Amino acid sequence: MTAPAIETRELRKNYGDVRALSGLDLTVDRGEFFGLLGPNGAGKTTFINTLVGLVHKDSGTAEVFGFDVEDDYREARDRIGLAPQEFNVDRFFPIIEVLEHKAGYHGIDSEEARRRAEDALKTVGIWEKRDTRFNWLSGGMKRRFVLARALVSDPDLLILDEPTAGVDVQLRHDLWDIINRMNDEGTTILLTTHYIEEAERLCDRVAIMDSGRKVEVAAPDELMARGTDTIDLGLADPPRTAPRLDVEGVTEVAVTDGGLSVTAAGGSQTAPALMRELERTGHTVTSLDIRRASLEEVFVDLTRDDREYAEVSA
Ligand SMILES: Nc1ncnc2c1ncn2[C@@H]1O[C@H](COP(=O)(O)OP(=O)(O)OP(=O)(O)O)[C@@H](O)[C@H]1O
Ligand SMILES: [Mg+2]
Repeated sequence: MTAPAIETRELRKNYGDVRALSGLDLTVDRGEFFGLLGPNGAGKTTFINTLVGLVHKDSGTAEVFGFDVEDDYREARDRIGLAPQEFNVDRFFPIIEVLEHKAGYHGIDSEEARRRAEDALKTVGIWEKRDTRFNWLSGGMKRRFVLARALVSDPDLLILDEPTAGVDVQLRHDLWDIINRMNDEGTTILLTTHYIEEAERLCDRVAIMDSGRKVEVAAPDELMARGTDTIDLGLADPPRTAPRLDVEGVTEVAVTDGGLSVTAAGGSQTAPALMRELERTGHTVTSLDIRRASLEEVFVDLTRDDREYAEVSA
């Protein structure tokens, strides 16, 4: 069977007047490292909760590895490991027991459950805390623990809802290593994050969501190629006013301390023509630096445009 890891069609969920999901179509292929980006309130967590059965959709379809998330709830749920945005952990038991219970919930026998719990705690690096209650872990350890809990059922689809929110740099890198390894071993990853740079580094493809619907889906590189690049030029004799530069792709020219800052689509293709034009008009270029549009800039553009559109059409 080769059904995608996640496939939703026309997925809708309203909370009163709030349209949390307004007809979301999304396909995540098996083995993909997929990012779900969107501003606060875009519907990311609602989407995830629909997949794991915490939210009941109003209409549309949602399947995980070909299993309907409601009609074939068990089959779908057993394939998913979720590290949720909000901690929802049993706070009174030693964490190793919480993991054993979780494995048991997925139908794993007690001996195997113990082994999985040990493995998961070791993988995330909090084995020495195994007899501690969740409440007594530090914030970063809590993040590690919810990842361990997601791993304990050996899921085919690992869903991480802002796993690195508020964690230190070291832990962020540790978490990236762990989930990258999982992905290399074939686990499909769905990641939401507000650190757009994180998505840029990790994800094969990202979906950008806003107001309960999909704005765009593409590889980070592909999205960045749509943004405008900035070319910073040092000039031997910087002009006081911005010259008119007749070069294809240039959208803006501004004067800086030591030269010019030029905004252009496709900076590396534009740079040689830009240099020639400047030399032709009597300037001497002393330095050149191309800054590529970041995924963050493209993200801000896409979600801002969408908001303006929403306001106009409201
Ligand atoms: N249980 C609920 N009852 C009422 N409204 C809700 C509920 N859960 C979510 N919402 C609303 O649905 C919308 C989408 O929320 P959701 O949590 O899915 O967003 P999100 O993209 O995960 O945002 P964030 O980046 O802040 O985590 C928001 O307007 C939110 O207030
Ligand atoms: Mg959320």
